[in-house]
Amino acid sequence: MEHLQNFDSEIFELIGEEKARQKRNLELIASENFVSPAILEATGSCLTNKYAEGYPGRRYYGGCEVVDKVERLAIKRLKELYGAEHANVQPHSGSQANQAVYFAKIPVGGAMLAMDLSHGGHLTHGSPVNLSGTYYKVGHYGVTKHKEVIDYDLVEKMAQDLRPRMIIAGASAYPRIINFKRFREIADSVGALFMVDMAHIAGLVAAGLHPNPVPYADFVTSTTHKTLRGIRGGFVLCTEEHAKAVDKALFPGIQGGPLMHIIAAKAVGFKEAATEEFNKYQQRIIDNAQALAKALQGYGLRLVSDGTDTHLILVDLNNVKITGKEAEELLDRIGITVNKNTIPFETKSPFVTSGIRIGTPAVTTRGMGPDDMQEIARFIFEALSHKDDESYLDKLNEETREFSEQFDEI
Ligand SMILES: Cc1ncc(COP(=O)(O)O)c(C=O)c1O
Repeated sequence: MEHLQNFDSEIFELIGEEKARQKRNLELIASENFVSPAILEATGSCLTNKYAEGYPGRRYYGGCEVVDKVERLAIKRLKELYGAEHANVQPHSGSQANQAVYFAKIPVGGAMLAMDLSHGGHLTHGSPVNLSGTYYKVGHYGVTKHKEVIDYDLVEKMAQDLRPRMIIAGASAYPRIINFKRFREIADSVGALFMVDMAHIAGLVAAGLHPNPVPYADFVTSTTHKTLRGIRGGFVLCTEEHAKAVDKALFPGIQGGPLMHIIAAKAVGFKEAATEEFNKYQQRIIDNAQALAKALQGYGLRLVSDGTDTHLILVDLNNVKITGKEAEELLDRIGITVNKNTIPFETKSPFVTSGIRIGTPAVTTRGMGPDDMQEIARFIFEALSHKDDESYLDKLNEETREFSEQFDEI
């Protein structure tokens, strides 16, 4: 990066600082990961210079013959990865992928049924502070009180009452496998369209470790940067029937020119995700999440739904008398990065929360395994139980630094 260093030493140094932070800390944010050098190189390429509004073969600019090939390759790889009829790789983010599907199919004032944010859903699934909650009439389902798994009977009842245009499955903080077949049956019973937002589990799905929503859903949206370990961005998959409407809603509906360097980097990520090595990586993510869950439970911490089938764990901190906000700050203090998170039937504000969300994709990328999860669980538990003991926290901070140094650079 000598050009950057020479021209803008401030940004160069900040990038170095962030790199050091990512290397030093134990990254347990469930939605983060570390991309490969190949993906970074594609992202930093000259493709960023090209305007290419439109789609391959149908652009509003000249000189698109090369980027057409790039986008076609990304689409081909993505369709093959998930067995989809149609793919749009242009969404700049997961939020825009969702917005495109809504814009394509739900008239303003129409109804959608989606998972409640505090039960694990996402802001773009009809939260009142999001465009989706402002333009549409929204019903929110959640998890059962006892087992804390999706209440499919409630989904069915709400679907019958609300008669939504679209039912949405998928979540940001739900540790269990989602039954897409059941959702499809409910959608069919009320004549609703069915969308799955698989942003969190896209890598597990690609590896065959979570059921694939594609055979059941009219639309599948995703981010590319969580378990899928690609560049930051989004995509939409859909059946041929809805292809034109989705493409039109994305461009010119809600976006302008596609980010061709990002689309190239997405293509590289899709190629990585089709390998046997990637499948093994996804299995290690789950093994690590389960090892970490067990170890945390061994320390007496309560986990929402009593564990995990996926890459993430939701810890209910009520019985250790600390808020999610305090826990996030405390763990930051010892070099462990997590995020505070609401839990089902939350009683605290989203800025405070009763829980933390913990994910294993990033630490798994760095080469950590189930034995290392025992150590991470110990760090977490000891920090939570010594929250006012500054010298103990200093000691833990030193321990996590030494621990982190043993693993791959990012
Ligand atoms: C389920 C789900 N959908 C959509 C998004 C939004 O993705 P982005 O941040 O790329 O807009 C997220 C991000 O956390 C998510 O968890």
